[in-house]
Amino acid sequence: MAFDAQQLRAAEPRLRQMAMAHPDRPDLFVNWLAVLEALGSPEVLRNFRSRFANGETAQAVYDAFLAFCGRHSISDTGTRVMQAMLVRTPGIKSALSAIASLAGEDWQEDPAAAERAIKTLERARTLAPTDTTLANRLGTLLLTSGRPERAVAAMQAAFEADPSAARLASTLANAYAECELFSLAADVLIAHKTTQPLSRAAAHRLFMYLTTSGRLQEARAVLDQPVATDNGTTSLPEFAAYLSEWQSIAAYSIFEDRIDPGNARHRLMAGTLLSYGKPYRHNIALADGISTFDVGGIMENSPVEDPSFNIYLGDLIFGRLGDIDGQTAVDIGGADGYFAIRAAQAGAAVTYMEPDPLFGIRARAFAEMAGVGDRVRIVRQYLRLQHRKLLESTDICLSLGLVYHFNNVIQNLKYLMPGPRIHVIEVDGKSDLQWSDADAIAHQDGEPISLPWLKDHLRKLGFEIEEISEWAEFAARYPKSRGRELWIVRPL
Ligand SMILES: C[S@@+](CC[C@H](N)C(=O)[O-])C[C@H]1O[C@@H](n2cnc3c(N)ncnc32)[C@H](O)[C@@H]1O
Repeated sequence: MAFDAQQLRAAEPRLRQMAMAHPDRPDLFVNWLAVLEALGSPEVLRNFRSRFANGETAQAVYDAFLAFCGRHSISDTGTRVMQAMLVRTPGIKSALSAIASLAGEDWQEDPAAAERAIKTLERARTLAPTDTTLANRLGTLLLTSGRPERAVAAMQAAFEADPSAARLASTLANAYAECELFSLAADVLIAHKTTQPLSRAAAHRLFMYLTTSGRLQEARAVLDQPVATDNGTTSLPEFAAYLSEWQSIAAYSIFEDRIDPGNARHRLMAGTLLSYGKPYRHNIALADGISTFDVGGIMENSPVEDPSFNIYLGDLIFGRLGDIDGQTAVDIGGADGYFAIRAAQAGAAVTYMEPDPLFGIRARAFAEMAGVGDRVRIVRQYLRLQHRKLLESTDICLSLGLVYHFNNVIQNLKYLMPGPRIHVIEVDGKSDLQWSDADAIAHQDGEPISLPWLKDHLRKLGFEIEEISEWAEFAARYPKSRGRELWIVRPL
């Protein structure tokens, strides 16, 4: 039923009265806002202003408004209200940040929503080109939805206007890094360092970018400087714990141009250099009779204590997959790259995805040593919505030891599960843990996973699960790996 303006005008006082009388019924408030909006009434703007005038802080009003919008999925309405306010009072900080928070509430579910949110933020930025909150929000959204070039363009001016804005520095540096512009990423962090001490995480990134772009003197200087820790104090001894890991990257960066993959001694030297700091997860052959476990040891907290652990798992997987020559595969969370390399050795064109840069560098080195460097593409990223197209066009998806790293398992399974004909899922989880969907949403990296919930959820998503019992039996031999399972998952 369509209402005309007269009817809306007549209904408005009643709706307002109801909304005010029932503060526990936000749906009534939404209706009232929607009618005001349809009438083009400035009333709603006055309502917000009057809350400020009554002594509430801008933050309090907008926090309440945002919480309200978030609970009731009215980000479009909220955004339009804020935009109207912005047009009337350009630059009003609270409206800018409200738009920034509202835009993108639901984009993770839906690429079209991401595009809408980006347009909203871009429009808002024409009104406030140097507002750092907006710039950061827009940059983050562009970046996380797979548009790093646009993120760079959107954020440069804002960062130049305020190089002390920490979040801008790290988002812009990430955007540069995703465009493989590591030297520019380093420049941004250095510019930021002149106004603020770097956090440990930012120093780590700066070091990475400098070594990756061959600026090794500067990289060494980063290793020498005191760095602020997360709790704000400066502590070199604590920081030093990180250095050995970084030095292995530096060593490799210095060395990598000189590796001849055909030369066993070179391979061994490269493997040794790479083993400093973060020991190997996978037992990978480097030279005759010598493997990564011989030169680098293994992670103390890893289930991989048996040298045949990854080899047996690989045999089980590739034995089941049969002939994959000419197919495409992705290995999500590939760590050292053992399974990606095995897939490439079996003839597949592989995309290896892994956010940890050290693992990425190692995987590249090992792929080259194994002679399949041209068939393993390294993507240094977390799995995200932007990878949907890649997954949809891939034959096989390996996600081994991955799902329990997800924050919000339901969200990440949405990214993971579309597309491939075959998913190979290896999980560490508990059979006696009962979960609701809310538990899966609340899950944080490292917490236990409920295997019954996961199986049930995959079936609900339309997959059938073939459980490979040999793996559960093998893994049960070791206390650290008890509870691991291997599944071949196919669409019904
Ligand atoms: C336990 S390791 C497993 C490595 C390897 N697949 C295996 O089975 O031995 C998990 C890896 O996943 C990576 N990871 C965690 N969350 C991720 C995500 N959301 N997207 C991609 N990789 C992720 C981590 O950096 C880590 O290297």
